Amino acid sequence: MTATVETGRRDAVVEQLFQATIGALELLHVYVGDRLGLYTALSEASETTPADLAARAGIAERYAREWLEEQAVAGFVDVTADDEDPGARRYRLPDEVAEVMTDPDSLNYLVPLAPLFASIGQSLPAVLEAFRSGGGVPYAAYGEDLRGGIARLNRPMFLHQLAADWIPALPDIEARLTTSPAHVADLGCGAGWSSIAIARAYPAVHVDGIDLDEASVAEARHNAEAAGVADRVSFGYRDAGSPDLAGRYDLVTFFETVHDMADPVAALRAGRALLAPGGAVLVGDEKVAESFTAPGDDLERFNYGWSALHCLPAALTEADSAGTGTVMRPDTLRSYADDAGFATTTVLPIEHDFWRFYRLDP
Ligand SMILES: C[S@@+](CC[C@H](N)C(=O)[O-])C[C@H]1O[C@@H](n2cnc3c(N)ncnc32)[C@H](O)[C@@H]1O
Repeated sequence: MTATVETGRRDAVVEQLFQATIGALELLHVYVGDRLGLYTALSEASETTPADLAARAGIAERYAREWLEEQAVAGFVDVTADDEDPGARRYRLPDEVAEVMTDPDSLNYLVPLAPLFASIGQSLPAVLEAFRSGGGVPYAAYGEDLRGGIARLNRPMFLHQLAADWIPALPDIEARLTTSPAHVADLGCGAGWSSIAIARAYPAVHVDGIDLDEASVAEARHNAEAAGVADRVSFGYRDAGSPDLAGRYDLVTFFETVHDMADPVAALRAGRALLAPGGAVLVGDEKVAESFTAPGDDLERFNYGWSALHCLPAALTEADSAGTGTVMRPDTLRSYADDAGFATTTVLPIEHDFWRFYRLDP
């Protein structure tokens, strides 16, 4: 008896893998352009030949030519003057693409997805070992590409949305932040951009950021200095779940970090203990579906894409880890908050493409 092959489905999977490979390879070329400053060099000239790009960016001309041709074929770069001689072709980075690749303040600045992706590539041997052993891969092992990628990707959201959209969804807390002197604890703060954005938006507020990654804390301190808010923003290299965290805060925030924590209940319990009377916790985390549905939509595929390759192994480095993974369902967060002693968990009516926001009251 011969098995019937459902050719339609087989062909769809073939096409899906082919397209995914093209996308992955294009993302790695974006990585090269980002890391070597090729997009910046292109954006600074109205037209560029391979030799111009090579000279401006300090790379070899043959590679400049091949990269430009790939970028043009991929549709990122325009050919402004074609020529039989590939070395004489002229290229231009359109303004719309330049925003995505080179404007660190734009909400459309998605170029950091390339170093994020690359960080996983270089971690794959350790990830394979973790799959076999059930152990983890330390956050720091994913390197600067991951740490910097997250910081650069999230920074525009903090700068543009945190004080404009997110905190106003907690009007009582916003009132406290606008009437001095208020205190905010930012747990799992990474490179500190959320802490800095809060300090910038609320001139009377002091922010204490805490993170378990030493390199992130060093970067956060540097970023606060450069932003001119180091007198009101300080950072500590600590576990957010430490029961001995001290202070009284009007607001405690967790941005894209609860799902990464080995012991999210301990961290939320610590956050609860830090609240001043009338204070609240704000959690922003991935906007995943309410329940497992397969096949999933793009956002679900995106979040599962990172989960087993980064978020889960990073959390599984600790013994007895909750092992949440990127896909932290709203019910999971609710149960963590319940276990941490919170009386209510409310999903806030904040429109956002990637995150869901929760208010936790003690
Ligand atoms: C995805 S990053 C988000 C960083 C930052 N909140 C942002 O949005 O840019 C997750 C962060 O959680 C931190 N983290 C994980 N477990 C932690 C813990 N137990 N205590 C403090 N920070 C922790 C990691 O070091 C990392 O910086």
